Amino acid sequence: MTDRKARLSVDGLDASIDLPIYPCSAGPDVIDVTSLTKKGFFTYDPGFMSTAACESKITYIDGAKGVLLHRGYPIEQLAEHSDYLETCYLLLNGELPSNEQREEFSQAVKSHSQVDESVAALIKTFKQDAHPMAIMCSAVGALAAVYHETLDITKEEDRLTTAYRLIGQMPTLAAMVHKHRQGEEFVASDSSLGYAENYLHMTFGKAGEAAKVSPVLAKAMERIFLLHADHEQNASTSTVRLSGSSGTNPFAAIAAGIATLWGPAHGGANEAVLTMLQEIGSVDNIDTYVAKAKDKSDPFRLMGFGHRVYKNFDPRAKVMKQTCDEVLSELGLADDPLLAIATRLEKIALEDEYFIQKKLYPNVDFYSGIIMKAIGIPPEAFTVIFATGRAAGWYAHWNEMVSAPYKIGRPRQRYTGYTTREYPSK
Ligand code: ACO
Repeated sequence: MTDRKARLSVDGLDASIDLPIYPCSAGPDVIDVTSLTKKGFFTYDPGFMSTAACESKITYIDGAKGVLLHRGYPIEQLAEHSDYLETCYLLLNGELPSNEQREEFSQAVKSHSQVDESVAALIKTFKQDAHPMAIMCSAVGALAAVYHETLDITKEEDRLTTAYRLIGQMPTLAAMVHKHRQGEEFVASDSSLGYAENYLHMTFGKAGEAAKVSPVLAKAMERIFLLHADHEQNASTSTVRLSGSSGTNPFAAIAAGIATLWGPAHGGANEAVLTMLQEIGSVDNIDTYVAKAKDKSDPFRLMGFGHRVYKNFDPRAKVMKQTCDEVLSELGLADDPLLAIATRLEKIALEDEYFIQKKLYPNVDFYSGIIMKAIGIPPEAFTVIFATGRAAGWYAHWNEMVSAPYKIGRPRQRYTGYTTREYPSK
């Protein structure tokens, strides 16, 4: 596989250690450190800043250049020419579908959009003010109860049905969570509608009434789903892989991914952006908050700015900004006061030396939060939308892992606690 080697000389070891280097089709080559444990060492990499935990062919990111490719296709081109379900097909299968394959995939997903009544009943047991991500996490975990006995993850056919069920039911669950929190009746899925259109119908429509969804808003939702569909080995995807590596039920593994996504350093940032904009309250207060963000002794950070991988710009943010303008103009909200704060904040941060030097650019969450608020989605449910879009990526990574030989994930540690000591006598 490779002739290149990294040679590691270690103080106290007579011989150096040769570690194979494997090439990548793009991005840094990787040094295989698996033999180090036999030499009595672990690698130490908190936050996995330098660790490739798997081999993957799905998504490539060049954070320095602001590049995001799904199966080789730039995200900007997919956002312009594709739609969410076609992008799902691409992530899952590696190639864009023919017209016939696209239709077949779309029908299969739509035909699996009904949620089992036990899960619908479970959602109704939650307090109305429960956080939507808590309900979503439980509801997807509960799908494992519905689809377990008959599911054999070693069978390709069963895995494909799992993909249809997951991608088909995520928007239905997201809408049910919304309706439950509003104290309204669930609206049945309508398979004659587009994917995002159906989500908006189930969320904002009335039970028994025909769908009335603005095409501009449906297009915006479609883009939000598409732009969130996958993002390589981020915290939630790595969680799905790690959880799935024990051979667990895929819906349980996805529920673990949802739990991870919830945090404000990951998917919860879009909710945090809105909370922050509301807290800032007026354009006049922006300077104070920018100063707080720059103050080392203040834990405050500008939500929606910065990214672990993108140290140039987030290519999804560019597309999202354009969609944001379209939505606000469609809804006549171009003069929205919160948006005025967001626009001014964006400008100041982009020109401020602190943000420039630390390469902190607005990320996708900065704009998606504004769009979703304009559409009428409550801020605390923003991350549910992120999860709905990301389900395809989580599934694609889980499927890639379980389709080939894999090991259970089991990180090691640098132990710095007590060594053996005696229990004190009483
Ligand atoms: N506001 C102010 N300062 C910031 C911000 C911010 N949003 N983000 C990073 N910094 C500063 C840090 O204080 C740190 O400064 P230092 O070098 O002087 O100590 C430096 O920039 C690097 O920050 P790290 O936290 O080390 O960067 P990391 O890559 O680990 O974190 C993260 C990335 C978590 C996204 C961070 O930028 C952040 O907290 N952003 C706000 C939350 C957010 O928007 N998250 C969404 C991520 S995108 C997504 O999940 C889709």
